[in-house]
Amino acid sequence: MTSPPEHLLPLRDRLLRRIETDGPVTFAAFMDSALYDPQDGFYSRPPIGVSGHYVTSPHVSVAFADLIVRQLVECWGVLGRPATMAVVEAGAGDGTLAAQILASEEWPAEGKRALRYVAVERSRGARNAVAARGVNASASLRDVEPFTGVLLANELLDNVPFHRLRDRGGAVVEVLVGVAGGRFVEVEGPPSESALAALGTPLEPGEERPVSPLAASLVGEVSDVLERGYSFLFDYGFSGGVGSRATRAYRGQEVLSDVVADPGSRDISAGVDFDALIRAAKGHGLDVWGPVSQRDAMLNLGLRAWLRALRSRQAAAEARGDHRLAVRLFGERTRAPMLVDEAQLGSLQLIVFGRGVPAPGAVKMP
Ligand SMILES: C[S@@+](CC[C@H](N)C(=O)[O-])C[C@H]1O[C@@H](n2cnc3c(N)ncnc32)[C@H](O)[C@@H]1O
Repeated sequence: MTSPPEHLLPLRDRLLRRIETDGPVTFAAFMDSALYDPQDGFYSRPPIGVSGHYVTSPHVSVAFADLIVRQLVECWGVLGRPATMAVVEAGAGDGTLAAQILASEEWPAEGKRALRYVAVERSRGARNAVAARGVNASASLRDVEPFTGVLLANELLDNVPFHRLRDRGGAVVEVLVGVAGGRFVEVEGPPSESALAALGTPLEPGEERPVSPLAASLVGEVSDVLERGYSFLFDYGFSGGVGSRATRAYRGQEVLSDVVADPGSRDISAGVDFDALIRAAKGHGLDVWGPVSQRDAMLNLGLRAWLRALRSRQAAAEARGDHRLAVRLFGERTRAPMLVDEAQLGSLQLIVFGRGVPAPGAVKMP
């Protein structure tokens, strides 16, 4: 009996073999395989949605897409109401937000005609899901032609592989993934050069910080494609020393304590270092606004008026005896506040980069 070729082995066995042969790998390398291995990675099949491992804002309420459309309409006006405006969604997942933005009734007819929607998705399974909704998807931002318009990303950057640097008695060490007794374990080793170079402010005593040179280069890719316009990035993260940096794993809507067990079976993420993103954006000559909380952004974009309009539609549906519609609208009204509840999605942060444009409405207090 010969053992199967390396590429036919399950991800877990391939990673075990690699670490046993070459020694511990960085957390970033482990995460890259665990999430994006084309065969067994967590994202090889879209894991998001009510029946999946977790939900994001567009799955919770269509108010998220409608309010983003209000922002897009404002951007279209700022850009001089061009005949075509690109909207590029990076990390589009299963395409829920794309479908909602395209179907939204918030668009004026001329603005909707101008819209050119492009999705960018690293995972082939997700690209197929996006295509099934009639939206074209590229595999990388590097495949997108430079454009005037808007780039959007919801919960993309916290899934971009990161290193983990830790203060150990005044010295910086890196959390690596090794193997002991046939299981993946976290071990400490010397920090890699790329992670140290991306660290920014020194670690506080006892601090562990996720450091992502890849997220910083993604900001460079955003800068390369954005000729004029905005980039709106929603993510969990920290800045100015405030916000969680913990590395987390999720499966089946539950938080798991073991981040490195059974790679491919669970999502891995950590708060995004907004200060590092801001440094990268400014280094590329982009203007920066925020971060502001998703709560503030949604309220600035008119969530209260959106809820009032829904209530009027619900009352009208009840008055003409359309109980099915009235119940659906009531359901919408009860879900939308989760977007601004700071114990739920309201604690997400929005950071905006711009080139040649003024501050957008989402970050301005009305
Ligand atoms: C947490 S999911 C969010 C999906 C969607 N935006 C949502 O809100 O439901 C992150 C998505 O980003 C994708 N992704 C990760 N790195 C990427 C990259 N460099 N370019 C494009 N997509 C990426 C993943 O495949 C995954 O589908």
